[in-house]
Amino acid sequence: MSSRRSLIAIGDLSRDEITRMLDLAERFSEVMRRDIKKVPTLRGRTVINMFFEASTRTATSFELAGKRMSADVINVKGSGSSVEKGETLKDTVLTLNAYQPDILVVRHRAAGAVAAAARYTQAAVINAGDGKHEHPTQALLDLYTLRRATGRLDGLHVAFVGDVLHSRVARSGAIALATMGAKVSFVSPPTLLPREAEAGLGVSTSSDIRDIADADVVYALRMQHERMGNGGFVPSLREYATRYGIGHHRLRPGQLVMHAGPMNRGVEITDELADDPTALITTQVESGMVVRMAVMYDLLTESGARTPEAVAEAVAA
Ligand code: CP
Repeated sequence: MSSRRSLIAIGDLSRDEITRMLDLAERFSEVMRRDIKKVPTLRGRTVINMFFEASTRTATSFELAGKRMSADVINVKGSGSSVEKGETLKDTVLTLNAYQPDILVVRHRAAGAVAAAARYTQAAVINAGDGKHEHPTQALLDLYTLRRATGRLDGLHVAFVGDVLHSRVARSGAIALATMGAKVSFVSPPTLLPREAEAGLGVSTSSDIRDIADADVVYALRMQHERMGNGGFVPSLREYATRYGIGHHRLRPGQLVMHAGPMNRGVEITDELADDPTALITTQVESGMVVRMAVMYDLLTESGARTPEAVAEAVAA
């Protein structure tokens, strides 16, 4: 089991710890404004990215984040690795652990797989998405994006719309937002609403799309076809798009729009809104890299290395 601090679930972080990571991400964003976007902060450290489920944003941003902090970064994917020959997750982690990595970033299609992987390594483990369970760094980058866009999180109302049932983005996002004092609602067809939504997560729920009117932020969720088996959750995608798809026609002036990507254009979000520069979708992607730099730095440093002086040194060229 890892003796280092890991990030498996967003609920493991207190409000103060989340604030610390968002503040740290602000500092790393300074690096991205320089001509040379690289610091020696993690020189001599090894980061192994293990992606056993498809990813564009999370995989590239973790790789870039590690490289921009001068870590040695290795990428292992399910396709092309010995996983294809039947090697188990346990044996894959034990094998990679032999290289004494400092961080393992793990994405897996099975809920709970990342926590299981953490039992077989001394490295800090970061959950890059495990099934429909959790996506903690997505939650952090969403908080970072919102804090920058609105200047606050406390009291903000975020409505997640669509396939909440299969969404690790909504689950981790709701927990993180509640921790920071925001109000969260889920607006979804009844078949795509988790039973524990109101009781377990403390969010309000509705199946009436008009209830997004009160929200400051409308967060469109991807219809996650790969987790729906034989389907039957909605009569048809066309009907779903008509009843729950987010477009300009549903928004009031000033409402912010988010989507974690990848998007099903014409289903949960209209083409026009997906391309609208006022939507925060591209900003979320930009936030991903600096937030992941902050998470890696934070997990590998002791509290003494998080003083203002130490952080200034960490972002110094
Ligand atoms: N938001 C997100 O996790 O995207 P990827 O699946 O492309 O990593």
